[in-house]
Amino acid sequence: MHHLPLLLSLLLAIAAPLAWAAPASHQLGQLSQIYDTTDKLPLPNEGNLQVHDPNIILHDEHYYLFKGGINIPIFKSGNMSGPWEKIGTVLDGDSIIHKGNRSRPWAPTTIERNGKFYCYYTLSSRGSRNSAIGIATTTTLDGSAWTDHGVLINTEKGPGSDVYPYTITNAIDASFIVDQVSGQAYLNYGSFWHDIWQVPLSDDLLSVKDAGKPDAVQLTFIPRKKHKPEEGSWMSYRDGWYYAWFSHGKCCNFDGVFPDRGDEYSIRVGRSKNVRGPFADRDGKLLREGGGEVVYGSNHGVVYAPGGLGVLPASNESTRDILYYHYLNTTIGFKDGEARLGWNYLDYEDGWPVPVEGQDATATSAGSIHGVTNWDYLPVVLGE
Ligand SMILES: *[C@@H]1O[C@H](CO)[C@@H](O)[C@H](O)[C@H]1NC(C)=O
Ligand SMILES: *[C@@H]1O[C@H](CO)[C@@H](O)[C@H](O)[C@H]1NC(C)=O
Ligand SMILES: *[C@@H]1O[C@H](CO)[C@@H](O)[C@H](O)[C@H]1NC(C)=O
Ligand SMILES: *[C@@H]1O[C@H](CO)[C@@H](O)[C@H](O)[C@H]1NC(C)=O
Repeated sequence: MHHLPLLLSLLLAIAAPLAWAAPASHQLGQLSQIYDTTDKLPLPNEGNLQVHDPNIILHDEHYYLFKGGINIPIFKSGNMSGPWEKIGTVLDGDSIIHKGNRSRPWAPTTIERNGKFYCYYTLSSRGSRNSAIGIATTTTLDGSAWTDHGVLINTEKGPGSDVYPYTITNAIDASFIVDQVSGQAYLNYGSFWHDIWQVPLSDDLLSVKDAGKPDAVQLTFIPRKKHKPEEGSWMSYRDGWYYAWFSHGKCCNFDGVFPDRGDEYSIRVGRSKNVRGPFADRDGKLLREGGGEVVYGSNHGVVYAPGGLGVLPASNESTRDILYYHYLNTTIGFKDGEARLGWNYLDYEDGWPVPVEGQDATATSAGSIHGVTNWDYLPVVLGE
């Protein structure tokens, strides 16, 4: 009786840390095997900030940036290229959730609804499914205290972790979307263990709806492969389509050892008319079947392993959406702490997002919005 769970947990414990030891790896020096030098993708506009898993909202004509770090740092700038001023942190100490490194949450996602800000954050540790998504709220971004409400989702251990699909998934990297018709809010989350999932949120956005039996759907999955490196979910809405974004591949820990070219982080997407999916890529392949259109990846031999993305929706039909992310600059270095903020405006070709070079915010006719967008239901209320 006792042997099976022990064996399983041992297998699970060793599977994750080994996830990237198995594929061929390369030392720095064989550059052509490591870097993609394609010039088909645009270079990023440099955000001039060190960041991993950036999250940006536009509020009151200023950009506010949240990132993984001690107590979840908040930065502010008048534009996407900085300079960014650190204005505080979301938490004023350890998270009230007893998991991972309580002083150093990962991958925050902040949204605004009805004058209140909600920051979903992650506590975990590398290679572990013993994770949690927590939530903190405030009513003003500049200098006010946030309230830490604690856990929304536990996986592996803790209250509720015995509820499906928390029994098989990994509670990291939350993102947020609202159904444009019904107004129902959803949380997307997950990685590696059964990849990315979606659950409905309760009306106060502080808990999962029907917590004991959540109406969960799987958004992405890589079947038939041992390693399932999809994480960092994001969801955007435009012109009648929901776009499910994620990062695919190896994110970090490149210290002198690199995966095969193309196995490092890249930014992928699929879309659906329904917020709950199924999502398919440009070739019609379901994201649940390993699909995902590569929107942005390593390029020019300079940009390496971009990911941890978000999309800032255009504030009206004349302007472009912004794709932002972190990336490594091969001339600077490969330490996790050296990742930089990058961003590009997006055009849409046949409804598929394409990053464009430069800083022209003007939407082209090809990229303009034809359908009806319910601006009130965008994840972030813009301007006001
Ligand atoms: C961007 O915003 C920062 C901070 O608000 C400001 O210092 C800088 O001059 C702005 N840059 C441009 C190009 O507007
Ligand atoms: C949490 O992470 C920070 C930053 O990496 C580190 O300085 C600190 O020692 C860690 N705390 C624990 C309890 O591991
Ligand atoms: C659209 O949004 C941009 C950027 O916020 C703003 O400068 C512009 O005035 C807006 N245009 C219209 C027609 O509202
Ligand atoms: C990469 O780093 C070099 C050296 O600091 C800098 O000149 C260049 O602009 C950077 N490029 C990008 C895309 O970050």
